Amino acid sequence: VFSPRGIPASYRHQQGFGVNTYRWVNNAGETTLVKYHWIPKQGVKSLTASDAATIQAAELGSHTKDLYAAIEAGDLPEWELKVQLMDDHDHPELDFDPLDDTKVWPEEQFPLHPVGRMVLDRTPENFFLENEQIAFGTGVLVDGLDFSEDKMLVGRTFSYSDTQRHRVGANYLQLPVNSPKATTVATNQRDAPMSFAVDGGTNPHINYEPSTLGGVHEAARTAPVEQGPEYSGRLTRAKIERTNDYQQVGEHYLLIEAWERDDMVANFIDALGQCDRPIQERMIWHLLLAEDELGLKVGAGIGISPEDVRHLEPLATQNLTEPELARLSGLGKNGPRDVAGKVMTHCVPNKREIVAR
Ligand code: HEM
Repeated sequence: VFSPRGIPASYRHQQGFGVNTYRWVNNAGETTLVKYHWIPKQGVKSLTASDAATIQAAELGSHTKDLYAAIEAGDLPEWELKVQLMDDHDHPELDFDPLDDTKVWPEEQFPLHPVGRMVLDRTPENFFLENEQIAFGTGVLVDGLDFSEDKMLVGRTFSYSDTQRHRVGANYLQLPVNSPKATTVATNQRDAPMSFAVDGGTNPHINYEPSTLGGVHEAARTAPVEQGPEYSGRLTRAKIERTNDYQQVGEHYLLIEAWERDDMVANFIDALGQCDRPIQERMIWHLLLAEDELGLKVGAGIGISPEDVRHLEPLATQNLTEPELARLSGLGKNGPRDVAGKVMTHCVPNKREIVAR
C-alpha cells in the first residue's frame, strides 16, 4: 500500500491478485489449492504518490478516461490469467500458513501457469445497466471451483451477497449482467421484488421437490460427494500460528525497483511523521524487523534510531520465532536478507510513469 504498486499508472497497467485461496475440484473429487493472478500484457506501470497528486489536482476520473480512450481507439487492454497451484494437504515445510492472506506463495516453489486471457473489447452502452448493477462476489462459483478454509474468504463470501441483496435487490442474480449465459438456472428461489422469471422445469407452480406434480429438479451431481483431503481434528477459532510476518515484507522491499523503494520510504516518513511518538517508535521497530534499510531510512526521516526502539518488547499478541528474536537482538544490524533466486509476482518489473508538471 505504501509503495507505488498501490498506485497504478492506469487500469490498463494494473496487475491483479486474487489474494484468497480457492480449490479446484476434478471429476474424481481430487482437489488442488489455487491462487489467481492477472498479468497485464501492457506491462505493469505505477505512479509515485506526488505524481498521482499532481494528476488528481487537475483531473477527475483520469483512470476511467484512459480506459475509455484506449478501448475506443482500438488499443484493447489484455490480461493473461495465471494460476499458482499447491497440493491440498498440510504443508509443515512452509514457514508461513498458505491460507494466510497476508502472505504470497513464492514463485520459485509455486510457479505461475497460464490458463486464460481477458480482453476488454468494448465500453458499456449504458453505465447503470452494465456496471452499477454488477454484483461481483467471492461466493458465486462455477462447477469445479470450491472454497478453501481461508478465513477471510469465508467472511467475504457471506458479506458480498448480503450487501448485494440490499444494494441491488433480492433478485440481483436474475439481472442479465449477473446471470449465467450458457446454462439454465435451477435454484427453486421464488418471488420478492423485481423477480422477472421463474426457474425452468415442467410446472411453474411447484417450487419444491420432490413432487409428483413436476417442478424443477436438483441437477445430477457431476463430482463425488466426498472430495479433498481427509481431516481429523477439532475445529477452532484459533489465530493463525505460523505468521512469519516480517520475512516476506523484507524480501518484497528488496525485490521491488529502486525508485519504488525511495517512494515507499518517503510515503512512510510522510505518514508516520504525523503520528505520536510511541506509534512512531513501534513502527520503526516493525520496519527494522522487516529490513534494516527500510527501518533505518524511515527512522532517519522522523528522527528515530534503532537505539531508541531497542528496549521495546514484542507486542502481547505476538509470538516471535527464534530467527525473529535473533533479528530483534541485532536490530538495525542484521544486514540485508538473502533474496538470491527469489521470485514474487508482486515484484515483477514496474515502470515509473512520470507526470509532466
Ligand atoms: C483481500 C481483501 C479484499 C479485497 C481485495 C476486496 C475487494 C473488493 C472490491 C474490489 C470491491 C468492489 C468495489 C466496487 O465495486 O467499487 C469490494 C466490495 C465489497 N467488499 Fe471487499 N475486498 C476484500 C475484503 C473484504 C472483506 C474481508 C469483506 C467483509 C467481510 C468485504 C466486503 C465487501 C462488500 C460488502 C463489498 C460490496 C459488495 C457489493 O455491494 O457489490 N471485502 N471488495
